Amino acid sequence: MTPDLLPRDPLTPPLLDAQGRTMTYLRLSVTDRCNFRCTYCSPASWGGKRDLLTAEEFERIVSVFARMGIRRVRLTGGEPLIRPDIVEVSQRIAAVPGVTQVAITTNASHLEKLAVPLREAGVTQLNISLDTLSEATFRSISKQGDFAAILRGIDAAVAAGYALLKLNVVVMRGVNDTEVADLIAYAHARRMVPRFIELMPFGQGTPVPTLELVERLQGAGLSLVPDEGQQEVTSGPARYWRARGGLVGFISPLTQNFCGGCNRVRVASNGDLRSCLGGRAQAPLHTLIRGGATDADLALAIRRALGEKPDGHRFSEPGAATSLLPMMGIGG
Ligand code: GTP
Ligand code: 5AD
Ligand code: SF4
Repeated sequence: MTPDLLPRDPLTPPLLDAQGRTMTYLRLSVTDRCNFRCTYCSPASWGGKRDLLTAEEFERIVSVFARMGIRRVRLTGGEPLIRPDIVEVSQRIAAVPGVTQVAITTNASHLEKLAVPLREAGVTQLNISLDTLSEATFRSISKQGDFAAILRGIDAAVAAGYALLKLNVVVMRGVNDTEVADLIAYAHARRMVPRFIELMPFGQGTPVPTLELVERLQGAGLSLVPDEGQQEVTSGPARYWRARGGLVGFISPLTQNFCGGCNRVRVASNGDLRSCLGGRAQAPLHTLIRGGATDADLALAIRRALGEKPDGHRFSEPGAATSLLPMMGIGG
């Protein structure tokens, strides 16, 4: 670790990584469990150690990160909404000084009940995963899950008045890649922003390169031009295009690597900081907290771990899939 990454007070911003990138965005996986079993995400054998952080521990960790310069927090899973105290977790995090935005990525199955309580708790944005409009295709992607409840959940979120709703679609060749235009229309009809994601090698399936999708859509007559105002929509990896009905996003970890602009750090569901989605655990924050660590101790452990953060993922290298940790405990 170079000395300039370790300021005298480790709690003082900016929070830099080994490559000099500034971290401003924290993804917290609040549970490793999910009520779905999507082929691309959930490994058959995943049953990692269960040692979830409590709502108070999340609040503590977020307050340390916020003092170091983190501004946006996203709750992920597994499926974050199956945590019984998810509203309390959201509320506590939204109230942390310095946090300007709390977002959640969810499969929508619990939104019919929770869309309004979560918005009232301070959640400003939802990213909703929906890969298909066909129940039969949904069933081929996930062995579990109530398809009708997902659609009702999405409509509940639309009615709840969130500032921004995005629809995440993981595109798989031969599974849902012919539904892209329909999913765009579905999202735009609900004033949501659809985003098409290149499949990363955490499970089964074949990715479709973004450029191929764009060309296929344009070939089918959809007007799609690159959007100039990217930053209004995201500080994440998506790149946006403009269609007649609204924006369309593409997240292209394989063909348009975005690691150079990385601004994010993760805490996995067992309380381990993970410096990179494609990397290994690097700081056992949960163990440190339970051992009585001070905020400065935590900050130092976070900085040291980020001092080891790789310059990017290695998803395209042979064997990447087997060397990765399960997506379900990291939260994407
Ligand atoms: P916004 O900030 O709202 O744009 O969200 P986001 O795209 O950062 O988060 P979301 O949870 O909606 O994730 C969308 C897709 O991006 C998922 O497939 C994630 O796995 C992927 N993703 C999110 N963060 C990273 C990252 O740091 N690296 C890589 N390779 N993929 C990521
Ligand atoms: N590749 C790309 N995205 C994935 N997600 C889950 N598994 C993968 C994968 N293998 C997405 C989910 C959700 C987000 C958190 O990550 O669909 O939208
Ligand atoms: Fe950052 Fe790692 Fe994601 Fe690349 S793969 S954007 S380096 S977290």
